[in-house]
Amino acid sequence: MSGVNRVPLIAGNWKMHTTYEEALRLAEAYRERLTTLDGVECALIPPFPWIVPIAERLQGSPLALGAQNCATIDVGALTGEVSARMLAPFCRYVIVGHSERRHKLGESDEMVAAKLQAALRNGLDPILCVGELLGERDQGMAEQVVERQLRSALDTLEAAQLRRLVIAYEPVWAIGTGRPATPADAQAMAAHIRRWIGERFGSSLAETVRIQYGGSVNAGNAAGFLQLPDIDGALVGGASLDVQQFCEIVRLARELGRATSSTLATDS
Ligand code: PGA
Repeated sequence: MSGVNRVPLIAGNWKMHTTYEEALRLAEAYRERLTTLDGVECALIPPFPWIVPIAERLQGSPLALGAQNCATIDVGALTGEVSARMLAPFCRYVIVGHSERRHKLGESDEMVAAKLQAALRNGLDPILCVGELLGERDQGMAEQVVERQLRSALDTLEAAQLRRLVIAYEPVWAIGTGRPATPADAQAMAAHIRRWIGERFGSSLAETVRIQYGGSVNAGNAAGFLQLPDIDGALVGGASLDVQQFCEIVRLARELGRATSSTLATDS
């Protein structure tokens, strides 16, 4: 067991939900209820158009903001895209490689890698999603698939950039299905991811990388994940639209989190 205190990150991915009014109400409720986070980080990740008005309303709050996606390049003729450079003044985090984008919108490993670079280049902390399909797990290929996704995304990363990376292990079959992975499976994959990073970047650096679990996390099952040694928070979809549930998940992270300070260990 390492002596590194990784600050758990609870991030709420609102996906393509909420009207403008609903989004403002939700952000306002979180601002009022999550006034001190005590050793946990919490990020709201609303749809693009609500980012700026919510950023204005979150001033002075410990809540961070994130975006659900970014373009592969910073500026140019890419109709409909939003670049990391545009998001950077308002967001700390950006999700890259969410399975809905990989599998429903045809995002390739190469595009995910380019988005990761765009995020880092513009000072955003990427939340890189990795995870296998059900068929891939059934065939015993889960680790192989996750390794492929990691290899392609992290191939050109330098050690210093790795410190800003958050990885979200999200088995595709667990997302939005009400059927989460077992804590044992989540822990096994998170430990595998950390080992894999350790082999490439050194184990002391691997110990600083935060690995979240995502996929049907709710207030009832979150504790099972948040107490695992290699899981450092959760990427929450559906339950992040429910104030009671999301606040309870943050409370559990605070209670069960191992972090005693917000200082991540650095190796030299
Ligand atoms: P879910 O979504 O919590 O609704 O399963 C998680 C995610 O897609 O990040």
